[in-house]
Amino acid sequence: MSDPAAPKTVNLRYGDESVELPVLSGTEGERAIDVSSLRAKTGLITLDSGYGNTGSCQSAITFIDGERGILRYRGYPIEQLAERSSFLEVAWLLIKGELPSRAELAALREEVVRHTLLHESFTQFFSALPRDAHPMPVLAAAVGALATFYQEPESEQLIHDSCIRLLAKMPTIAAYSYKHSIGQPLIYPQNSLDYCSNFLRMMFATPCEEYATDPLLARALDLLLILHADHEQNCSTSTVRLVGSSQANLFACISSGISALWGPLHGGANQQVIEMLQSIADGDGSAERFVARAKDKNDTARLMGFGHRIYKSYDPRAAILKKTCKEVVGKLGTSSRMLEIAMKLEEIALSDEYFISRKLYPNVDFYSGVIYTAMGIPVNMFTVMFAMGRLPGWIAHWLEMRADPAFRIGRPRQIYQGATERAYIPIEKRGEGPVSRLARRHARASAGA
Ligand code: SDX
Repeated sequence: MSDPAAPKTVNLRYGDESVELPVLSGTEGERAIDVSSLRAKTGLITLDSGYGNTGSCQSAITFIDGERGILRYRGYPIEQLAERSSFLEVAWLLIKGELPSRAELAALREEVVRHTLLHESFTQFFSALPRDAHPMPVLAAAVGALATFYQEPESEQLIHDSCIRLLAKMPTIAAYSYKHSIGQPLIYPQNSLDYCSNFLRMMFATPCEEYATDPLLARALDLLLILHADHEQNCSTSTVRLVGSSQANLFACISSGISALWGPLHGGANQQVIEMLQSIADGDGSAERFVARAKDKNDTARLMGFGHRIYKSYDPRAAILKKTCKEVVGKLGTSSRMLEIAMKLEEIALSDEYFISRKLYPNVDFYSGVIYTAMGIPVNMFTVMFAMGRLPGWIAHWLEMRADPAFRIGRPRQIYQGATERAYIPIEKRGEGPVSRLARRHARASAGA
């Protein structure tokens, strides 16, 4: 909680100058130096590669205490939401700020169900893409393309409808991208099914065979989506905010968030984790040997799904997923080989000085892939699942940024380290310099011409 006795300003001395800067506090006691007047007062800017110590905004959506492993959406602990809520209810909570009433939740479900279909010309969109395209660029392109179907002038109603359309159509786009990649016909949404059952059916039904969703899998997927729904100013959410600060259209901003999430250090890690577990299973099966490689600076191996910029203790989402993993694998009777290797890696790493000293713990990606695999979801769809989950968080942050009275376009500064001023050199006065292979080939071609 905020400490009323904490100083309200900080004094910065630079040479024989000194400047006083305000310190502001959050509702959970976090404090920040407001440096917005620093350059005007001192000519100095701040520099913080990777923004490890820099706040980009004030937000009321999600609170994380990385030291204590706390994650709350609008004040509600993730453990309680995981146990008792649903993904659509959490989506409303993140976007609106309060838990919905029974009628509000029913109305949300009804609105989402009415928008699950894609415009029929999307089928040509998918068929234009290579069969072996990774589903993440397909998802980013398709979400961006939604902007071409809804081009009315921006209004509060259009923004509301765009939020609903995204929540409704993301699973359809995701399932379509999968069906396209395996050469199967697209399966249309079925409005009688709940959000997760509808997605699983679009993924696994075929015109020849129905797919009856196991309620255990639908509940496990709903839990996975809740756990991924928001995580304050992570890389992809900060991307959505920055792109949105130019007043770009919501679909374009969400598409940029999807692209940022694809990175293997961010949302792409869940795919990397399963590939890591599979490589251990297919190799000598030695978790010990792999952990040794992950510690070796001369080895590119990393213990994927471990470590976090904010959590310096166990990621609370990983703890919930580890428990769910055991339940799903146990009840389905699927192979627990991946889970066993993951748990062995965790056991070794959490007792190893290298990981302990760097406060590296399992993060949300470490166990999620084991559950997706048990559901039959292919590895290259794992990050798409992450995007489906993170969507309400992206929307909530985009709306919060747009409603912020201090809203202005994001435009960071830099410290220039390039050449100082120099005069142009006419080409005839430039030495030969290191002639590139292309230049030599071009010179031979023109000599032979
Ligand atoms: C997500 O921001 C969010 O909230 C993200 C997310 C969300 O919900 O949006 O939580 C989702 O992206 C989770 C993170 C998924 N990524 C991975 O699991 C990839 C593996 N983890 C790392 O690459 C790394 O831990 C990061 C990217 C997650 C965090 O990187 P940092 O904070 O920049 O830390 P760092 O790379 O500077 O590492 C500090 C030290 C280094 O060693 P030294 O230079 O001190 O000797 O720890 C080492 C790193 O080499 N290290 C690891 C490691 N992670 C960090 N060594 C081995 N294996 C790892 N996984």
